[in-house]
Amino acid sequence: MAILYMAEPGSAAQWRQAFHESAPELEFREWPEVGDARDIEYLIAWKAMPRLMAQFPNLSVLYSAGAGVDQFDLSELPEHVSLVRLVDGAMADIMAEYVTFAVLALHRDILTYQNSQRERRWAPLPIIPACERRVGVMGLGNLGQVALQRLQPLGFQLHAWSRSPKAVAGARCYVGNEQLHAFLGQCDILINLLPLTPETTGILNATTLDALPTGAGVVNVGRGAHVIEQDLLAALDTGKVAGAVLDVLDQEPPLPDHPFWRHPRVLLTPHIASNVQVKGAVDVIVRNLHRARSGLPLLNTVHRGKGY
Ligand code: NAP
Ligand code: GLV
Repeated sequence: MAILYMAEPGSAAQWRQAFHESAPELEFREWPEVGDARDIEYLIAWKAMPRLMAQFPNLSVLYSAGAGVDQFDLSELPEHVSLVRLVDGAMADIMAEYVTFAVLALHRDILTYQNSQRERRWAPLPIIPACERRVGVMGLGNLGQVALQRLQPLGFQLHAWSRSPKAVAGARCYVGNEQLHAFLGQCDILINLLPLTPETTGILNATTLDALPTGAGVVNVGRGAHVIEQDLLAALDTGKVAGAVLDVLDQEPPLPDHPFWRHPRVLLTPHIASNVQVKGAVDVIVRNLHRARSGLPLLNTVHRGKGY
């Protein structure tokens, strides 16, 4: 029984140590030192790999080295192989920290002040109290719920949108496509924390951006392909969207001439909003080992029909 690690090479030693402490019975192997590929029952990978089952015929669980699984094609995995996300509480805390930073940056007009500073302009703007600012989160999963909890003490009016009904203390919740536009109309600052699926690809487009209040802020921490970039650029040009904080882009890194690099209304970060935390991830894997032995369903499995 072996687990093969194929993610960030710089962290492999940390993973090895964590497995050594928590599950010494599990042999840890690091790509490309696969050994006998028939031993590999578990794989930790960030990227999809061609002909996975041909390479690892005894694979039973593919662990995505992240919260997102859009890089994997579920139809290529046989039914008996589970796809599991390595999201945990620490990862959600780190994401909530980034979301708080991005919301406060937009709320307090930091993009405008950065531009003023470059132009040596001392130009105060009116201050809007948090209680008059409406903040909306798209996606109420592991990450979206913690982000909302973290924003609550700051006093914003909170709104949230998900596919199935949810109740979140202190936030007004909206459900499904029927309520999407009603939700967007309440978002002075919109945060995207959806998974990328066929239903959510391009969800932030000319029509949905137009449904936001004029001068809204947009934070994208989901996936770049959630946003039609040309439509966001157009909305920034007209002022429909006043500013955007983007941690993810369709192409990462963007080409050198991509307009977001130097756009005065865009704050760009290189996909660092959050990442897998080794301790929590190994904990999920070890708990799943025990659950499988007891015949219990695995934690954090991806639903094949929903794709997240
Ligand atoms: P999750 O637990 O699977 O939650 C997904 C949420 O999105 C759920 O509330 C779900 O609704 C909702 N949703 C999915 N499809 C929808 C649709 N068509 N319409 C409305 N709501 C829909 O995911 P998570 O762990 O919170 O992670 C979310 C995403 O964050 C990941 O997939 C990844 O792309 C991104 N991420 C980015 C970074 C970064 O560094 N930028 C780091 C980690 C993760 P239901 O609750 O009704 O199912
Ligand atoms: C990062 O983007 C992740 O999905 O974990």
